[in-house]
Amino acid sequence: MSAPNSSYDPVEVTPLRADEVERMRDEALSAIAAAHTLEELKQVRIDHAGDRSPMALANREIGALPPQARKEAGQRVGQARGAINHALAARTTEVESAEEEVALASETVDVTLPWDVEAVGARHPLTTIQEHVADIFVAMGWEVAEGPEVEAEWLNFDALNLGPDHPARTMQDTFWVTPESAAMVLRTHTSPVQARTMLTREPPIYVICPGRVYRTDELDATHSPVFHQVEGLAIDKGLSMAHLKGTLDHFAQAIYGDGMTTRFRPSYFPFTEPSAEMDLLCYVCHNEPDAVAECRTCKGEGWVEWGGCGVVNPRVLIACGVDPDVYSGFAFGIGLDRTITSRYDIADLRDLFDGDIRFTEPFGVEL
Ligand code: PHE
Repeated sequence: MSAPNSSYDPVEVTPLRADEVERMRDEALSAIAAAHTLEELKQVRIDHAGDRSPMALANREIGALPPQARKEAGQRVGQARGAINHALAARTTEVESAEEEVALASETVDVTLPWDVEAVGARHPLTTIQEHVADIFVAMGWEVAEGPEVEAEWLNFDALNLGPDHPARTMQDTFWVTPESAAMVLRTHTSPVQARTMLTREPPIYVICPGRVYRTDELDATHSPVFHQVEGLAIDKGLSMAHLKGTLDHFAQAIYGDGMTTRFRPSYFPFTEPSAEMDLLCYVCHNEPDAVAECRTCKGEGWVEWGGCGVVNPRVLIACGVDPDVYSGFAFGIGLDRTITSRYDIADLRDLFDGDIRFTEPFGVEL
């Protein structure tokens, strides 16, 4: 019978020698101490505590030792591995909190500091166009007049020669304010401001009135129960249709540039006589023979509808206390919403009223 492996000397298994285990442990500990980032620690863990680390390989050698030598070698390696794992955990905590401190320091925001970055808002195109129109007329010596949106029935209709049987007075078009006996409406046009102005001041009168008006239209891509008009009224001695035409041509050129002109088509409004629908020369194709047929803006017409106008009916002058034998005048009213949607090819009128800043932003600059 051969003796147990008595000739086996554990000292000969180099990785398990006390001095070698100590060297490996110290090497690991100093690598751990030298690691300054979690990334470095990760590598140190692989190198010194991973499956292929010298210490793990040494551990595997234990089984090759004679039984009496295993315990001591096992303890030696176990303690060394324990020390390494302990040091790794402690260093990880240290590095983690150091990294956190650096992050906190570098990402600190002093909320008390003054700031100079201001979000640039955008003005709504309806606001800008109203101001633009006002500027054009103020430059000619006109004034801006205003009136209430909840208006007396008499001013919205009767004073403007819209008799009680006129279709515009039916419930179809008009929002009546309850109780009906109050005889108040949401103004259906800006024309009552004409009456208000004539009733409160003496001619000569040159005013424009931009504002919101209401009609019982369903909200869809081309209609809205709330929309915007600009009214113009001039009362003076000797004013005629020619002055109206000249004024509107100037207005069109100031908005759309030189070469722009207006056209009148016969029409009817109870408050003007004669009355006309005014069209604007199409600002896209300019009614040029080779472009007009294809033009989407005017749909081949060469002209774009702009509003109503006419010479103020003497009956309106009388109702508002102006002597028609001395004074005459002209008036016009244009729709601002359609002016914007057709000018900028906006397919859906509702975009104007949604309040979405992404729609408004491109108009933030002067047009
Ligand atoms: N008030 C008319 C409308 O709303 C427009 C208009 C104004 C017509 C002034 C003639 C004179 O349709």
